[in-house]
Amino acid sequence: MTPWYRTAVFYEVPVRSFSDGNGDGRGDFIGLISKLDYLQWLGVDCLWLLPFFPSPLRDGGYDISDYRGVLPEFGTLEDVRRLVEEVHRRGMRVIGDLVVNHTSSDHPWFQEARHPGSPKRDWYVWSETDQRFADARIIFIDTESSNWSWDEEAGAYYWHRFYSHQPDLNFDNPEVRAEVLDIVRFWLGLGFDGLRLDAIPYLIEREGTNCENLPETHDMIKEIRAVVDAEFPDAVLLAEANQPPKDVVAYFGEGDECHMCYHFPVMPRLFMSLRRQDVDKLTAILASTPPIPDGGQWAIFLRNHDELTLEMVTEEERQYMWDEYAPDRRMRLNFGIRRRLAPLLGGHRPAIELLHGLLLSLPGSPILYYGDEIGMGDNYLLPDRDGVRTPMQWDDSPTAGFSAADPADLFLPLVSTDGYRPAEVNVATQQGDEGSLLNWIRDLLAVRSHHPVFGIGDFEVVPVDDPAIFAFLRADSNEKVLVLANVSKDGRACPLDMEAAQALDVRSGERVDLSGLFLDGHEFRWLSID
Ligand code: NOJ
Ligand code: CA
Repeated sequence: MTPWYRTAVFYEVPVRSFSDGNGDGRGDFIGLISKLDYLQWLGVDCLWLLPFFPSPLRDGGYDISDYRGVLPEFGTLEDVRRLVEEVHRRGMRVIGDLVVNHTSSDHPWFQEARHPGSPKRDWYVWSETDQRFADARIIFIDTESSNWSWDEEAGAYYWHRFYSHQPDLNFDNPEVRAEVLDIVRFWLGLGFDGLRLDAIPYLIEREGTNCENLPETHDMIKEIRAVVDAEFPDAVLLAEANQPPKDVVAYFGEGDECHMCYHFPVMPRLFMSLRRQDVDKLTAILASTPPIPDGGQWAIFLRNHDELTLEMVTEEERQYMWDEYAPDRRMRLNFGIRRRLAPLLGGHRPAIELLHGLLLSLPGSPILYYGDEIGMGDNYLLPDRDGVRTPMQWDDSPTAGFSAADPADLFLPLVSTDGYRPAEVNVATQQGDEGSLLNWIRDLLAVRSHHPVFGIGDFEVVPVDDPAIFAFLRADSNEKVLVLANVSKDGRACPLDMEAAQALDVRSGERVDLSGLFLDGHEFRWLSID
C-alpha cells in the first residue's frame, strides 16, 4: 500500500494569518475551522500548521514556552481537537511542527535552568567561554553575531543556533530526550497525522565539527521514529534540514528516520532556471540527488513562511538571485529574499503557472503556501519575515474578510501595494471567475489527484537539444507521463527523440502528435504515453 503522504498535496497554514474567528484582529482555530470547506474545495490533502503553542512570538511561534499548550489568542486545546476532527471528517489530514532544537528563553525550563544547581540546569547547553564549538556557522547573520549569549543570572554562556532568545536544548541529556518523545506522543495521540521536525540538523554539538548532521543527532531521530512506528504507524515525520542533497538523504536513514525531507536545493534552482532560461542547474541538482529508501518521499515547495533561502547555492548564484529577484536591498534577509511567489515573478501568470506545473510533477509531494493560490502579494517593509505572513485575503472588504475587527487593529497590515490589494487579489472574486489563478490551480490539483504517478513514479530526464526545455518522464506500473516545460519567455519547437509517436494531454484530454510539438513561452504539458 502506498503511504498517504507520497501522493498528498500539502498546504502550509500559519493559524495567525489565515482567519480570525473572534474578531480580535488575529487568526485563530475557530477561524481556521471555518475555512476548512475552502481547503477541501481547493483540493489539498494535508494541512501543515505552523507552531500554535504558547510563545512570546519573537520568532513567529518557533520560540515555544509550553509544548503541550495552545497560544491563548489562537484558542484552546479543545479547539485544536475540534480542528483535527473536522479536518479528518473532510477526508484531509493535518501535521504539526515539532520545534525541539530550542525553546523560548521564556520557557519555565530555561528560567529554572538559569539558577546554578537547578535540576534543569543540564537541560540546556552552558559554557564558561564563548569559544566552544567555534566551527558552527551563524544562521541568522542579520541579527546574531555569536551562537553564545551571556546570562548574568546563570553566570554562564548558553548555546543557541537561532535568535539569542532561543536557547538550544541539550540532547545529550536523557531527560530531555524522554521529554521530547513524550511531546511527540502527546500531539500524535491527539490525532495529528504527523510532525515536521524543525531545525533538525542542530540537535547535538561536538567540538571540532560544524555541529550539523552529527551521528548522535541521527540517533535521536531514530528514537523518535521508533516511537512513531510502534505507536502511530500511519503518521509522517518530515525533516526540515536545509542541507545539500547528500546530507539531507541521511535524514531518511535506512527507512528508520524521517519519512519525508524537504528538498531545499531544488527550490532556488527553479527560480534560477526561469530567469536564466536554462534548466542546467535544475537538472544538475536532481542528478546529484541520491536515491531514497522505499516509502520515503521528498517535500518540495516554491515559497514558505521564511525568506526564500539561498543557503544551498554558490556565492555567485546567490548574487545572481539577489540581483534578479531582490533588486531593492530591503527585500533581502539573511541569506535570502523575503518576498512571495507572485511578486517575485512580477505577477506574470504564465511563469506562476509554469512553476506550479513543475512543483506538481517533479519527484516529491508539493507543499503550497497559503495565499499563493490566489497570487497574494507581500510587504517587505515589515520587520523580519512578517511581510510574507500578512492576513489572508478572502474578499474585497476593508479587512479582506480576514477579521471583523477594525482594519487598524489587524495583527499585521493588509498588503497595500498596487496590483495586490485585497480589492484586486482575493478568494471570493477568484472563486467566481473561471479563468482565475485560483480556479486554475484547483483544476491542476484535481488532475494531479488522478495521477498518483506524480507522487510515486520513477523520474527520468529525457534529453532535449534545447537548454530552455526540461523534459522528463514519470512512470510507474500503471502509467507513464511525459512532462515538458519551456522556461524560455519565447515559444520553442520541442524536438523529441521518443519511441512513442502519440500522447494524450492529461489536462486537456487532447491527442498530441509528439513529432511536431511546439511550446509557447513558459508553457508546460503533461502528456500520458502508452
Ligand atoms: C525554521 C523555521 O522555518 C523558521 O521560521 C524559524 O525561524 C527557525 N526554524 C528557527 O526556529
Ligand atoms: Ca482571533
